[in-house]
Amino acid sequence: MCGIVAAAARREVSEILLEGLRRLEYRGYDSAGMALIDNEHNLQLHKQQGKVCELEKAQKLHPHLGCTGIAHTRWATHGEPSGANAHPHISGQRVALVHNGIIENHAALREELLASGYEFSSATDTEVVVHLLHQALDGGKTLLVALQETVRRLEGAYAIAAVDVEHPDQVVAARKGSPLVIGVGIGENFLASDQLALRQVTDRFIFLEEGDVVEITPSSMQIYDESGVPVERKRTLISEAVEVVDLGGFDHYMLKEIHEQPRALAATYAQAATHPHIDDCFGAGAARVFDRVKAIQIVACGTSFHAGMVARYWLEELAGIPCQVEVASEFRYRKRVTHADSLLVTISQSGETADTLAALRNAAGGEFIASLVVSNVANSSLVRESDLVFLTKAGMEIGVASTKAFTTQLVGLLMLTLALGRRRAMSEEKQQEVVAALQSLPDYVQQTLELNSVIEELSGAFIPKHHALFLGRGIEYPIAMEGALKLKEISYIHAEAYPAGELKHGPLALVDDDMPVVAVAPSDDLLEKLKSNLEEVRSRGGELFVFADQQAGFVSEPRVKVFPMPHCPEVIKPIVYTVALQLLSYHVALQKGTDVDKPRNLAKSVTVE
Ligand code: F6R
Repeated sequence: MCGIVAAAARREVSEILLEGLRRLEYRGYDSAGMALIDNEHNLQLHKQQGKVCELEKAQKLHPHLGCTGIAHTRWATHGEPSGANAHPHISGQRVALVHNGIIENHAALREELLASGYEFSSATDTEVVVHLLHQALDGGKTLLVALQETVRRLEGAYAIAAVDVEHPDQVVAARKGSPLVIGVGIGENFLASDQLALRQVTDRFIFLEEGDVVEITPSSMQIYDESGVPVERKRTLISEAVEVVDLGGFDHYMLKEIHEQPRALAATYAQAATHPHIDDCFGAGAARVFDRVKAIQIVACGTSFHAGMVARYWLEELAGIPCQVEVASEFRYRKRVTHADSLLVTISQSGETADTLAALRNAAGGEFIASLVVSNVANSSLVRESDLVFLTKAGMEIGVASTKAFTTQLVGLLMLTLALGRRRAMSEEKQQEVVAALQSLPDYVQQTLELNSVIEELSGAFIPKHHALFLGRGIEYPIAMEGALKLKEISYIHAEAYPAGELKHGPLALVDDDMPVVAVAPSDDLLEKLKSNLEEVRSRGGELFVFADQQAGFVSEPRVKVFPMPHCPEVIKPIVYTVALQLLSYHVALQKGTDVDKPRNLAKSVTVE
């Protein structure tokens, strides 16, 4: 999604800004731009639709140089992807501004600015902000005060950075609802929407808080809170090396990340061995919270929501603790009745998802005894704002479609089940069984990866199809949902998941010889029931693809293709089967020729609601 990089330095910064944008590219965007104040105090602008490499080409062809600048990657919300809608937006050749987020009252502000004589050259919500800033500057305010005044007029979410040719060594910025971090340099300072963009120039960061407005110059920085009072914010040293991210011989990040799962799952579970007690994997104070907790409320979006749905089965069945799961975009706006002594668990790969973050903030104030986040990104907003934290060790995930982040989230959630279960219904024997299953998980995932060529062969059958149905029962139902989500997001084949028992209540009407039906088959008590559901599909001419335990007694026959999955402990089946479905989506998308790592219209980190 949109990315911001800005610099106030004594050296030329165009390459720093471009490198920052390159580091944010994986998040997904459709246009990019950069504005610099040159040494004659003129605004120099490059912006266009397309990739950062196009911006680099433009910069090579017509170099713009300067020591103060702002840059942006845009993921279109208001206004189509185009050069005109790309950021930075400028006002009167004086002010340039970049923005992440959505300004909800932009229409009213636009009317007002049009009436004052401002002309608009884009269809974005952002352009009102740059004109408002310009208007305040024309009234004789300093750049900082002008921005403070401007943001007071905005409704919605924003991270903003702006420059003004009449304050040529300053960058001002503000955040509310979208992340922004200061990178502290020596004789230079930076801003970005993600510290990753600045790791090339510094390892010292200040994460801005809601409502903060900041002014940086090469030699100073001043932060003001929402009410305009100067404040100090904590400095964070991030010393671990930035992960080297390359394709490592794979054709796509998604395929690489699928294959990294045995290592990532082992590393995530290994935290249990490096802490004196499993509770400590969730942060200081976890034991006290876990002793008190009587119910769990999970909140997340997309794939992370599916992880929550799987966890509900574990938490209720194994740990005997009531658990509810809801998508964050619904939870945040709903009047709720919450169980006494509930723990709020948010799940988020990026730790920045706007709805999940808003849900956490919205639940503050005594509704829950504490909040716990399961995230892959240390120092992300959700991590900083939650009471307890479980960090998955997936490593950086570049592919927009989440793979290793999902399966490592499941490991974290199974560890949470262990931590809570030992205080409640879970016998010592059952705990040992789950621990052994977690230890053996990387091997079973490896065995599943070895089915790659079989799955690749099967995937051809999906190429001419426009729809697919995924069925599961019990804990495999959310896995069917995750399989359908993966297929639709990267191959653009419309896919829906149903609990198999719901088939007769509607979706069976869709089944014909043009509708492939993928079944995630368990080998537990529900197997016989699933077999009857599949029979219903087959007798209506549907083509079945069954991912089943090799000992479950499924055999391939005309119009039924069975994938023999490793016979593994019941509790880790959702994780193991997910890997096969990831491979299926990958191969279908590959043969359809879609952009596997950057599917159309999607972004890696969804920082707007
Ligand atoms: C799908 C996918 C998305 C994310 C969702 C939440 O493959 O990646 O559905 O799971 O946008 O993102 P996080 O986990 O970062 O909160």
